[in-house]
Amino acid sequence: MKRVILAYSGGLDTTCCTQWLRQRGFEVICFSAHLGSEFSPSELKKRAIMSGASKIYIKDLREEFAHKYILATLKASAVYEGKYVLSTALGRPLIAKYLANIAQQENARYIAHGCTGKGNDQVRFEVSIQILAPKLKIIAPLREWDLACREEEIAYAKKHRLPIKTSMSEIYSIDKNIWGVSIEGGALEDIHKKPPPNSYFFVKSPHVAKNNSAHVELEFQKGIPIKVNGKTMGLVKLIEWLNEQGAQAAVGRTDLIEDRVVGIKSREIYEAPAAWILHTAHKELEHLTLDRETLIFKELVSARYAQLVYQGLWFTELKKSLDAFVNAIQSRVTGKVSLDLYKGNITVVRRSSPNALYKRQLATYGKGSKFDQRLAEGFIQLWGMPYRAQK
Ligand code: ARG
Repeated sequence: MKRVILAYSGGLDTTCCTQWLRQRGFEVICFSAHLGSEFSPSELKKRAIMSGASKIYIKDLREEFAHKYILATLKASAVYEGKYVLSTALGRPLIAKYLANIAQQENARYIAHGCTGKGNDQVRFEVSIQILAPKLKIIAPLREWDLACREEEIAYAKKHRLPIKTSMSEIYSIDKNIWGVSIEGGALEDIHKKPPPNSYFFVKSPHVAKNNSAHVELEFQKGIPIKVNGKTMGLVKLIEWLNEQGAQAAVGRTDLIEDRVVGIKSREIYEAPAAWILHTAHKELEHLTLDRETLIFKELVSARYAQLVYQGLWFTELKKSLDAFVNAIQSRVTGKVSLDLYKGNITVVRRSSPNALYKRQLATYGKGSKFDQRLAEGFIQLWGMPYRAQK
């Protein structure tokens, strides 16, 4: 029997995929990466087997995800189109790496995924597999089958007695991990309307958030968050803890009209409290510790980095080279940042660093200034010279 390794999430699409592949004569081995997802391992196993899989691998990859993937984009300040912290996009290359490993272990020649032909995730999975294991053949049931919409998939699932939940996760398409939740489809497709109250997954609405602010102090060492409120915390725990704090304070919701790789514009809402808190604090520390020219160049790198991750180009030489730049400048990014979280806002209130480039005796308008203001006149003459020449 032909053997296929299916990237399995437990949701409607991949549940239908399992059955569809079975019906086409494949032995289906599922793989689920636990990156902070909805289903427990026992639930996932039950669902995969009920859907026709012969076996399932479930791996808790949160540590690797946090240290190798999340951290890289945090240091790079990579945010796509200003509003998306790339939570889903970051998980794909990691999942692809494990799919390729398991395929080799199981002697399978096929990989399958439950992505549609309109989305980014197909690109991310397949380009990653092309790079890591070019001999594997990819099957994308959603690009081939004749189930035209989610309603038809639900009907197919019911007909074959597949396990589906009739909860909101079937109305919307949701992808969840510790770096954020992505929600699309259903009522969200009407871009003229506010997201319905039930569409956000776990971050509170600012209208019902607490009336007092939460205070968080983050400490970074060379760009890596290591302590929260004075307590040392591992990265996964720290992210999960910040997600809870941020969600209570209504922090981390965004609503984005985004540009997909295939050229479609789509609307997606995101919830990523920890990511926004960490990006805000990290950026603040960079502004305190890095010189102006480095910051200007870093902005270019951040935008490019975000595009690469979004476009499925994680395992590329360019990405590696950008990492080298980002890591080099992180050597100064050590210190503490204090933030207030209040009704959807993240406000930086304090910052400090042994590598601070802020010198009060230069900046001060008060007594004790060490800045020789007479030098400014000559500086401005030279600064303006090229533009006077244009007249
Ligand atoms: N638009 C996001 C991306 O391309 C998320 C895609 C998956 N979203 C979802 N709701 N299943 O990374």
